[in-house]
Amino acid sequence: MTPHFDLLIRNGLCVLPWGLEAADIGVRAGRIAAIGVGDASAAETIDAAGLHVLPGLIDPHVHLRDPGNPAVESIATGTRAAVLGGITTVFDMPNTTPPLTDAAGLAAKQAHAAATAHCDIGLYVGATKQNIAELAALELGDGVCAIKVFAGSSTGTLLVEDDENIERVMRSGRRRIAYHAEDEYRLQARRSLFKADDPYASHMLWRDPETALLGTRRILALAHKTGRPAHILHVSTAEELDYVKDHKDIVTIEMLANHLTQVAPECYERLGGYAVMNPPLRDKRHVEAGWRAINDGTVDTLGSDHAPHPRAAKERPWPSCSSGLTGVQTLVPVMLDHVNAGRLALTRLVDLLAAGPARVYGLVNKGRLATGYDADFTLVDLKRRTRIENARIASPCGWTPFDGMMVTGWPAATIVRGLVVMREDEVLGEAGGRLARFR
Ligand code: DOR
Ligand code: ZN
Repeated sequence: MTPHFDLLIRNGLCVLPWGLEAADIGVRAGRIAAIGVGDASAAETIDAAGLHVLPGLIDPHVHLRDPGNPAVESIATGTRAAVLGGITTVFDMPNTTPPLTDAAGLAAKQAHAAATAHCDIGLYVGATKQNIAELAALELGDGVCAIKVFAGSSTGTLLVEDDENIERVMRSGRRRIAYHAEDEYRLQARRSLFKADDPYASHMLWRDPETALLGTRRILALAHKTGRPAHILHVSTAEELDYVKDHKDIVTIEMLANHLTQVAPECYERLGGYAVMNPPLRDKRHVEAGWRAINDGTVDTLGSDHAPHPRAAKERPWPSCSSGLTGVQTLVPVMLDHVNAGRLALTRLVDLLAAGPARVYGLVNKGRLATGYDADFTLVDLKRRTRIENARIASPCGWTPFDGMMVTGWPAATIVRGLVVMREDEVLGEAGGRLARFR
């Protein structure tokens, strides 16, 4: 008897955990039922000839501003942007208005996310000096990917900057904690060195490489002391990349596509406030160190740090302009362009955007093409040439720092648990996202 599937993906070149293989994939009840299918029938068949079939790509770092300001972004609009960009799961940051720091906020967000997301979603819970005792329970909540600590201040009010309280956070719970590691004391001490109305490039001088290294070193010392694993978000300097190599027993790290793509000071001259983010975009020496760390395995995950702000807020003079750049919709196209330019292998990109986040966050049933796993797929056309433009951006704020960039490589379809949610730049179906599961 020929087997029957809900969905068959025929003729694609698949990035399996053990390498590239031409294989047909059968999906049943939202999960991968077979890899390597012969004669079979299916309710729906996708011809992936000429396309690469990747495990569903994960953006483990987005700020969807929900609750807060839906005119800028919401879970509905941000996850729409995600699936247009070939992303099947996002992990959403807690620096919303109000921030997500307690059980009531988590319950509300769990319900709202499950009702409005177009892709699957994980939720960070923010640490504060007041909620430390509750973190051990909160990190086990449905859909919670990790506790997030802002050890240096950024957008919003979340901040735990001192060693004593960071150590208390580490001793409440056991899962890997995600850190914004810039050193708050050095940020405060240096702020007065720069004037209002200085050029936008002052942002990277104020938040200098030493600020990042100092913060990362302090957190790793405490992680060793307590035995609590750390994930350092958006590592941006050559010095940190060198430093973490000797601490991989306790630390995993994230890099952002922006820090591998935009180069200072040119980016500040060209983009003004649309180049301002934390940690800042830096010069060529750091960008080159970033690429070496991508290719030697130092980096564990890659994210967009999608952080939308209204245009008016981005166009204010430095330092009054808001920090943060959109990116969830452009992460995959920008990185595929880097693959085409020979800067990293497609298999390494999949490691960084699928297997990596699954390993680091303990994500269940996602991150690899394997029988029994969720039927999440990102189909990509490595040859398609397309211009990234503000007009394509689905986020209501309507801008991207990559406006005008011509890229080679584009997502052709996004499939979440067997449902085709994007095909040929069109979002399909109602919001069917669910909370991701974590160990
Ligand atoms: O540039 C940034 N923007 N860095 C952060 O840490 C937060 C983010 C935001 O939420 O705007
Ligand atoms: Zn962020």
